[in-house]
Amino acid sequence: MDNNKRKLLKQMGVVATGLQLQSFSSFVQSSENTRLTTNVTNKFLSKKNINWSTVRQEFNLDENNIHFANFLITSHPRIVRDDINYHRNRIDKNPAFEMHHESIAHHESESRDWAARYLKVKSSQIALTGSTTEGLGLIYNGLKIAANQEVLTSEHEHWATKGALRFRSQRDDINIKTIKLFSDPHHVSTDEVLGSISSNITDKTRVLALTWVHSGSGVKLPISEIGKLVSEKNKQREQENKIIFCVDGVHGLGVENTSFAELNCDFLIAGTHKWMFGPRGTGIICSRSEQIENLIPTIDTFSGQDNFGTIMTPGGFHAFEHQWAMRKAFEFHLMLGKEQIQQRIHQLNTLLKQQLKQLGSVQLVTPESTKYSAGFTFFRVKNIDCEKVAKYLQVNRVAVDATNRDVGPVIRMSPGLINSEQEIEYVIQLLAKKIA
Ligand SMILES: Cc1ncc(COP(=O)(O)O)c(C=O)c1O
Repeated sequence: MDNNKRKLLKQMGVVATGLQLQSFSSFVQSSENTRLTTNVTNKFLSKKNINWSTVRQEFNLDENNIHFANFLITSHPRIVRDDINYHRNRIDKNPAFEMHHESIAHHESESRDWAARYLKVKSSQIALTGSTTEGLGLIYNGLKIAANQEVLTSEHEHWATKGALRFRSQRDDINIKTIKLFSDPHHVSTDEVLGSISSNITDKTRVLALTWVHSGSGVKLPISEIGKLVSEKNKQREQENKIIFCVDGVHGLGVENTSFAELNCDFLIAGTHKWMFGPRGTGIICSRSEQIENLIPTIDTFSGQDNFGTIMTPGGFHAFEHQWAMRKAFEFHLMLGKEQIQQRIHQLNTLLKQQLKQLGSVQLVTPESTKYSAGFTFFRVKNIDCEKVAKYLQVNRVAVDATNRDVGPVIRMSPGLINSEQEIEYVIQLLAKKIA
C-alpha cells in the first residue's frame, strides 16, 4: 500500500478499524466525520451562507440511499411539487376552463418569464419543450440548410444530437461532418478545441452542433470562446452562409452561473428536469433571435404566432401541470443564487476529485479544473471493470452508473446541491475498501 493511500485510509479510520465498513447513517453519526457537516444557519435562503442540508430537505429523496446520479432525472423539490399540485388540482376540477387559450397562454408565459429571467433574455426567446431530446429534434429537423451545405459536429455528442442529425441527413441528403475535439478529456484545452473546430470549418459549414458539458467524459467545452470563433468566421460570410451555432446545454444549465448572451450561441437546447430540478418532462430552447430565423417549425403551436418562444413551443395538450410548474424551478435557482449554486457544485466535485486522486489506482477522466468541468466527476479504476465498480457502489446504496461512450468506459458521479461532503467521504471509504 503506498503512503498516500495509507494516509487517506488512516484519516478515515479504515486502517484502524480493520477495513470494517460502517453504514452511511453510523458514518454520519461518528464525531470524526460530523466536522464535515455544513455549519451554517438553517435559513437556506440566506444567500451569504446557505445551509445545503436544509436545501436537501426540500426533496423527498430516500434517506437510505446516496444519490449521485442526478444527471439522469431529478427528484422534484417542494416548491415544484407544490406548484404541480396547484395546477393539477385546478385542471382536475375544471379541465375545460384550464385548457382555454388564455389560460394556457398565461401559464406558459409564467414559465417563459422565469426561464428568461434566469438566462437574462426576453421571454420571446424561450420556447417550452418536453426534454432536451425533443428540443434538439425540433432544431435539427427545422434549420434551413441548403443541399451543398453541411453540419459540423463532434464524436462527443449524446445520441439525442447524433440521432436528430442522422434523421436530417437521411431526409435531405445533407453531409454531417463528425470530428474529434480533444484527444485526452482530462487534459483538454481551449487551444486544442478551438484548433479542431477552426480547422474543420469550411465554406460549406452551415451548422455547428456541440454539447456544453459532455455526459461521456464530463468535459465542459469553452462554449463562449467557440461562439466568438464562429462570430469571427461569420464576419466574412453572406447571410445565407452564416454558421448557426447550436448547443445542447442540459448539463450546464442549472450548474454554471452564465447568461445566454455569454455563451455566444444561436440556440441553447436543454431539458429542465435534471440540474434545474424542473418538473419531469420539461425543457427549453433559448434562441438568440426573438423571431424565427433560419428555421422551419416542425410541430404547430397552440401558443400563438407572435415570436420564437410561442411559435417553437409545440402544440397539443401536454401534462400541463408539469409544464406550468417549470416556473418554480427557475425561481428556486434564483432564490438560492446562481453564483452560490455554481460554487457549491464546483466545490463538491473538486473535493471528490481530490479524494479520488488519493486512491492510488483511480484514473480521473473529467478534467480537474472547473474551467473545463461542471458537475460531473467521471473516473475509472485500474484493472477493475467500470460496470463492476458501479454495481459495487449501487449494492452499497450509492446511486451512480457506468457508461462507455466517446472516451471509453467511465464510472459517473455528479455531486450536486442535494449531496454533502459526508456522502463524498463515505463513497471514498467504500472505494478504498474495494481497491485495497
Ligand atoms: C448530453 C445529453 N444530451 C441530451 C440528453 C437527453 O436529455 P433529455 O432526457 O432531457 O432528453 C442527455 C441525457 O442525459 C445528455 O446527457
